[in-house]
Amino acid sequence: MDYLLALDQGTTSSRAIIFDSKGRVKASAQREITIRTPHPGWVEQDAQELWNTQIGVAQQAMAAAGLLAQDIAAIGLTNQRETTVVWHKKTGKPVAPAIVWQDRRTAEWCEQQRKQMDEHQLCKKTGLRLDPYFSAGKLVWILENLPEARALADAGNLAFGTVDSWLIWNLTRGEQHVIDMSNASRTLLMNIQTQTWDEELLDYFNIPASVLPTIMPSGGLIGYTADGLLGRKVPICAAIGDQQAALFGQGCFNAGLAKNTYGTGCFMLMNTGSELKYSQHQLLSTLAWQTPQQSPQYALEGSVFMAGAIVQWLRDGLGIIRQSNEVEALARQVKDTDGVVLVPAFTGLGAPYWDSEARAMLTGMTRGTNRCHIARAALESIAFQVADVLVAMQQDAPTPLTELRVDGGACCNDMLMQFQADLLGVPVLRPKLQETTALGAALMAGLGVGLFGCTRDIEHLWQLDRSFEPSMNDDERQQHLYQWHQAVSKARTTM
Ligand code: G3P
Repeated sequence: MDYLLALDQGTTSSRAIIFDSKGRVKASAQREITIRTPHPGWVEQDAQELWNTQIGVAQQAMAAAGLLAQDIAAIGLTNQRETTVVWHKKTGKPVAPAIVWQDRRTAEWCEQQRKQMDEHQLCKKTGLRLDPYFSAGKLVWILENLPEARALADAGNLAFGTVDSWLIWNLTRGEQHVIDMSNASRTLLMNIQTQTWDEELLDYFNIPASVLPTIMPSGGLIGYTADGLLGRKVPICAAIGDQQAALFGQGCFNAGLAKNTYGTGCFMLMNTGSELKYSQHQLLSTLAWQTPQQSPQYALEGSVFMAGAIVQWLRDGLGIIRQSNEVEALARQVKDTDGVVLVPAFTGLGAPYWDSEARAMLTGMTRGTNRCHIARAALESIAFQVADVLVAMQQDAPTPLTELRVDGGACCNDMLMQFQADLLGVPVLRPKLQETTALGAALMAGLGVGLFGCTRDIEHLWQLDRSFEPSMNDDERQQHLYQWHQAVSKARTTM
């Protein structure tokens, strides 16, 4: 009875991982998710596919582990954030495609709002900024462009949620319409200080309160899986956004500790404890979590939109690699980029630039440039973006960051991690268990169900695999950063 089932619904796949109470992986299963881009800048997924794949991998992982529902102490759910789902409360069917966090269709809407509203006030209330990244604009777009959605909302039959809400609705067969605080803090509709929906913002955006889920703490009993889904009922004892889950899974329980996840994008979060801190350097304030034992905890976040997705572009767009894991070998064939810099603003630039109109750029190419230089420039661009975020975070942090914990797909790339440490000038620490997002959700569920008493009981689960120590001299580092910033300034549309 002491296994924990983590359900991790990410942008590129749905995964399920079963952990034992010592944080060891017992079994896992994974399925890819289809992404559609019907118009330039639009990014959609099928909400039904998110659910079908997620429940499918949960069943698969339990079968692989040879476990029954009664062996699972609790489920912890974690998910891609901001992605917006709307469904019919009576039929439980989605009424629109899920609009993914990367979708930029509301860029113009954001511009209009910026002219009409006090953005500073919005930042104070929500910790965020006016950007297509967040859920509010996506929901408004659906309400304004799908007449059926507005009519359903007016009749009280429309449900809105982030992916956690949608999965919990399905797991409980419509018994629970909820959202966890960390996900709610990414909607641009929650007051981050009171953790309640902000009525002024709802009025302003013309969003009826009847569509909204109930805000819940991240850890604690949320509901039970419906009979038959996984066999007997299983308690769902955690829901938490994937980046906050990774912060938790990295053991960053105390203020001042930070992690960076190299996923589709890069997300650096620093725990600021029970104190809500506002950035002076273009970062976001976000809710980290609320466990049953703690008051709400906060984090500062730097979100970068393209990281692993750059390697996908090398594979699918340029066709210079066949598989993502070939990129390191290709990049290693040259000793440097020979002056080539890639600014990966394919979907605009996130923190700290926040320029949704910027577009990607390759600079410094000569007749001698080949695919190895481009592959190396692509990897380096991931590290440069993270370095810009770290500088902003260092300026906001009360005490200097002395290390950065890393996870996500690209952190197994040693070349990238070494370059990252060189650029940052602080050690980059890679843990043994890199499934920190799923682990974070599982541990949160363990706290929620009482398997662990407090975070001290799970601190020891974080173990170091390798520390990458900075070894580049200062001149070289400055030269790299100079070239990068020159290239970024060419790609930017706002200063
Ligand atoms: O904010 C977006 C983030 O939650 C997506 O994470 O891992 O699904 O790319 P991932």
